[in-house]
Amino acid sequence: MSKKTLLSFHGNGCLGLSRLEQVFDIIKLFEEKDPNSVIESVKNDVVAINCTVGQFITRDLIETLPNLKIIATFSVGFDHIDLQAAKERGIKVTNTPDVLSAETADTGMALLLATARHIAYADRYVRAGRWLMEGDPPLGTSLTNKKVGIVGLGGIGQKVAKRCAAFDMDVVYYGPRKKPDQPYPYHSDLESMAGECDYLILTCPGGEATMHLVNQAVLKALGEQGILINISRGSVVDEPVLIEALQNGTIKAAGLDVFADEPNIPQALLDMDQVVLLPHIGSASVETRSAMGQLVIDNISAHFHGEPLLTEVI
Ligand code: DGY
Repeated sequence: MSKKTLLSFHGNGCLGLSRLEQVFDIIKLFEEKDPNSVIESVKNDVVAINCTVGQFITRDLIETLPNLKIIATFSVGFDHIDLQAAKERGIKVTNTPDVLSAETADTGMALLLATARHIAYADRYVRAGRWLMEGDPPLGTSLTNKKVGIVGLGGIGQKVAKRCAAFDMDVVYYGPRKKPDQPYPYHSDLESMAGECDYLILTCPGGEATMHLVNQAVLKALGEQGILINISRGSVVDEPVLIEALQNGTIKAAGLDVFADEPNIPQALLDMDQVVLLPHIGSASVETRSAMGQLVIDNISAHFHGEPLLTEVI
């Protein structure tokens, strides 16, 4: 029996594609110089797509593949997939929630510490020989006893909340609805929550519903001592407005793992010392990326064995 064809936009993390290769002909688009012509040549054979963040699975692409049955993304976020187009064709979509929540929350805490306590700046300071020449760098600000507002108390947000509580921080949250099982005070208005908080941590999904949720009014409310941490999606923040807010002191600092146009980062952000920048490494550990890779394999395999999907989006 001939193998089915899987269009792979990425290498499935450290787990790799070898287990899928036993069952599928895999088109490794990430190794192709001209991916579009490769897609054109296999379009009638493709039954599955394996993709991740930043690899846009558009309506056009979905419509090009008449036999596509499942899109498995190696990410919790699925804002890069046209869900409506998939739904209209009855194409299944799966993601990798839960297995990456703790890792991504740890990245958020690392960014908060690096930003508030000037850890990244202090490292540059030492390496540049400035400790020797200029003495101690400026003081940072504490985490202890500070109020942190979590934007989106889903799987990742809840792990962040737990970590912040362990740092003796006062935790509140904003989201589309109150979560009765959560012990933290809920705010239905982001701007007013930001006005009460020292730090804001964004953990909500990307997509249209959260586009530019963090705007000028929210940053102004967060205030000149405020710090913004973003481990969700670049689209959640109005990036030019954030840059202006950092340049004119509307807020104090920002720790960013995600950007509007990854991997392009505006020069203005690169130039600012009060900003800590990461290359979207929220879930990037061997353990977590392996678990995500396994979930991609398990979802695809469940689908073609007629079994229930493990983590179905639609
Ligand atoms: C996700 O899984 O959506 C993350 O942003 C990828 O690191």
